[in-house]
Amino acid sequence: MSIQIITIDGPSGSGKGTLAAKLAQHYQFHLLDSGALYRLLGLALEQHNLLDALDSQLVTCIEIATHLDIEFKSTTQGIAVLLNGEDVSTTIRTERVGEFASKVAVVPELRAALLTRQHAFAQAPGLVADGRDMATAIFPQAQAKIYLTASAESRAARRVKQLQAMGLDVKINDILANIEARDQRDMQRSVAPLKPAPDAYIIDSSDLSIDEVFTLMTTYVDQCLAN
Ligand code: DC
Repeated sequence: MSIQIITIDGPSGSGKGTLAAKLAQHYQFHLLDSGALYRLLGLALEQHNLLDALDSQLVTCIEIATHLDIEFKSTTQGIAVLLNGEDVSTTIRTERVGEFASKVAVVPELRAALLTRQHAFAQAPGLVADGRDMATAIFPQAQAKIYLTASAESRAARRVKQLQAMGLDVKINDILANIEARDQRDMQRSVAPLKPAPDAYIIDSSDLSIDEVFTLMTTYVDQCLAN
């Protein structure tokens, strides 16, 4: 039987992460959080003082991307993300590292360096792949393609709640400005821009609860997987 793939693409704060995890659990599929890969690479390049030299030091940056020592480890509290053996689960979720990731994401050679690593997540019985270009670039063969979006305001409000729950002190206006700037960069970059695949099922979660979105998704995915 072929490996079944569900992709969830969309802007940050649309609820993709939460819903991808719920779907993976529901279908007992593997989970790829591709944003975490970009965040880890951004953090690694910053640690090497290379974030402002992505063009001039491209070969070194590609080398680092290719050999990135990362691990996603299941724990009782969820999935721990390790970089060179160090737990960076909280660090990579900060706005600061989100900015690093966004800089890395516009470099085609660095995106290419992460390709094999992303494909390796596609293992039986199936995969839920969460990102920006899962359906358009990484897994165009996916059986179910979802594009989850929401207004910038509702995404900012959700992000503030998430960050506050992690004990971080944040202001909504800063978050909203960051979200708008990142949307702009993600949608307008020349390589793998954020956009729905032509055959994607588009859901706007602005006025929907997680459970409502989950029901829409499983109804759609059940149909796709049955065909
Ligand atoms: O989903 P996220 O906020 O963790 O993503 C962090 C950054 O990585 C975001 O600015 C866009 C980039 N990204 C990407 O370009 N392609 C992906 N498949 C996933 C994330």
